Amino acid sequence: MRVLVTGGAGFIGSEYVRQRLRTDPALRVTVLDSLTYSGVEANLASVAGHPGYRFVRGDICDPDVVDQVMAGHDAVVHFAAESHVDRSIEGAGPFVRTNVVGTQVLLDAALRHRVGRFLHVSTDEVYGSISEGSWTETSPLAPNSPYSASKSAADLLVLAYHRTHGLDVVVTRCTNNYGSHQFPEKVVPLFITNLIDGRSVPLYGDGRNIRDWLHVSDHCRGIDLALRRGRAGEIYHIGGGTEVSNHKLTGLLLDAVGADWDRVEYVPDRKGHDLRYSLDDGKIREELGYAPQITFAEGLAATVAWYRENRSWWEPLKAAAEPR
Ligand SMILES: NC(=O)c1ccc[n+]([C@@H]2O[C@H](COP(=O)([O-])OP(=O)(O)OC[C@H]3O[C@@H](n4cnc5c(N)ncnc54)[C@H](O)[C@@H]3O)[C@@H](O)[C@H]2O)c1
Repeated sequence: MRVLVTGGAGFIGSEYVRQRLRTDPALRVTVLDSLTYSGVEANLASVAGHPGYRFVRGDICDPDVVDQVMAGHDAVVHFAAESHVDRSIEGAGPFVRTNVVGTQVLLDAALRHRVGRFLHVSTDEVYGSISEGSWTETSPLAPNSPYSASKSAADLLVLAYHRTHGLDVVVTRCTNNYGSHQFPEKVVPLFITNLIDGRSVPLYGDGRNIRDWLHVSDHCRGIDLALRRGRAGEIYHIGGGTEVSNHKLTGLLLDAVGADWDRVEYVPDRKGHDLRYSLDDGKIREELGYAPQITFAEGLAATVAWYRENRSWWEPLKAAAEPR
């Protein structure tokens, strides 16, 4: 199979490329990535010499680039996005451009080139917030942040191209990912790297917001199942089965690094901060045999160890992103 992976230099996309090239020697992968602040080409260094791998630096919003790159591929796995909620609160423009317009440019090219399957990677955040129970794939969309609103718009476009044009699409929606190579602005790597450096960690509000945590490797296995065996036009949830409050997560990270609660700085809550996300992922478990393989305890320990051992990866990224 010849797969075009957008956003393959980012956190989840690079794990997908490394994992799939390791697992399937016959796979051919082209990564299309414009290398924004969160895209790191070195994330793909371990596959750079693989005969089935090619990297193209380019913007998914550029129809000429996308048209050229799309030719000859059997499938698209679409990760490229602006993905940080806090940045979307500061300015929504790049989110609408990449997440909505970029997705439409890719869909048009996929149609023109008769690509066999378009898998769109989305998020549980499209549903808003839920105090009890879990969302199913038919729950209504009610996004609260500019980020989740732009992802919702993209999801609807992808599904519309299926209904209107018959394009073979699958949408996956997952919970919060964690693991190695995550840009150190997101809570897990931000807290780990601050704690390793003896600094404080900023905890939003009272820390009672609840998220389900999914190891990035499990997420990528779920995506690949949906790509190969998911039904056209369907949405599949991918969860980790570990709901934890931000307060509890902070305690686990403090323990893992050997630090105390005096390192926690309570900061004003994020605007419109969703209280709880929860996905019912029974559909992908029953239809496609998905099950997460990595427990939160072992995954978190491995993630802390990775950031300890890879300071040269995160230090320059953090220095470049921090206000001077
Ligand atoms: N991280 C999570 O917990 C999480 C949870 C749910 C869904 N998702 C979704 O998964 C996908 C990947 O997220 P991530 O955490 O790996 O993000 P990331 O920010 O680490 O990676 C995004 C990648 O997309 C690239 N990119 C951005 N704009 C581009 C453009 N216009 N053209 C080409 N490339 C561009 C960046 O350079 C980067 O390599 C996103 O679609 C995101 O919405 C992430």
